[in-house]
Amino acid sequence: MKVDGKHIRPIWLNAEDDTIVNVIDQRALPHKFIVADLKTLNDVIHAIKEMVVRGAPLIGATGACGVYVIALNLGKDVMQDDLLQTECEALKNARPTAVNLSWAVDAVFKEVIRGSSASERVNIAREKALAITECEAENCKKIGENGFKLIEAIRKKKKGKAVNILTHCNAGWLACVEYGTATAPMYTAFDHHIDIHVWVDETRPLNQGARLTAWELGKQGIKHTVITDNAGGHLMQHGLVDLVIVGTDRTTYTGDVANKIGTYLKALAAKDNDIPFYVALPSSTFDWTMRDGVKEIPIEERDPDEVRYVQGLYNNRIASVLVPPEFSPAGNYAFDVTPARLVTGFITERGVCGASEAEILKLFPEKRAAFASSK
Ligand code: MRU
Repeated sequence: MKVDGKHIRPIWLNAEDDTIVNVIDQRALPHKFIVADLKTLNDVIHAIKEMVVRGAPLIGATGACGVYVIALNLGKDVMQDDLLQTECEALKNARPTAVNLSWAVDAVFKEVIRGSSASERVNIAREKALAITECEAENCKKIGENGFKLIEAIRKKKKGKAVNILTHCNAGWLACVEYGTATAPMYTAFDHHIDIHVWVDETRPLNQGARLTAWELGKQGIKHTVITDNAGGHLMQHGLVDLVIVGTDRTTYTGDVANKIGTYLKALAAKDNDIPFYVALPSSTFDWTMRDGVKEIPIEERDPDEVRYVQGLYNNRIASVLVPPEFSPAGNYAFDVTPARLVTGFITERGVCGASEAEILKLFPEKRAAFASSK
């Protein structure tokens, strides 16, 4: 996407030295623009764990590039499949909820072990990682085109009046290489001169909505308003939300959706107010092995200090302040699961479908074949 006239992505290979993976350090946005170098497996794991990079498709792309970094650092030892696998497993464990991470690492690993020399393995890792990154960008573009039709239909119904869309967390290009998942239909609608306005949930504790989504939308010139996480229900009751679009970190093939904590409450409020609740995702975010999202999807629990402290700009420096009493314990559940029954539909690169196993498998018939052959 373009920011201040310059095309940028959240991840790229360094132009002078392509053994270095560069990423935008998203912890510092929107106040500082910092680029981090990832040169070792530990750098990549740290970047994913500490949320230098975050968002399911970007975590996947970073994992894919991580296998390239592993291959480079192993040198001749990259020919030892066991060692390569152990390091890939460590990478896959950096964050548990977004299925894109293990999907991307496995996809690169599978190709790499076909290489018959160390240099061939490094080249394969590089090419496959770049291909995954491009593919995620392309998929998000298609999600934008498919989701745009939903926004256009609402605009027609409202006779050209502004379409109000609510979103949670950041499922924008920062989370996805390009366009975003939840934001892609918004960017496409904006490019088609449709009047849209976005309610941006601030998304405590790390405020990905207030910091990242608001920054992204502002840089593209899209009207938006940051709201507290608890405001959505009130806005829905008063007719101020036409549509909810969120992203996801893992969606079961039956349609249960894991996404940033608080998504479930938005889905409940949307259901109560008869407001369409859509989830935008590329196929890499479907988990084709899990049936019951609430029981099976691993929910990350993060450092309670992320809840206890709030970060922001103070005297031109990023500072943290303590909110609760010093000794009050805090709990930091990073994701929740919205059951399929509360989801109106999915916006994917292949089209829009309902939130049920049958509807999802209509869009991905090759997965039906895989289930059948595994029985
Ligand atoms: O903890 P984060 O910031 O990685 O969580 C991100 C989200 O929950 C996004 O909504 C999700 O990854 C969808 S990404 C397009």
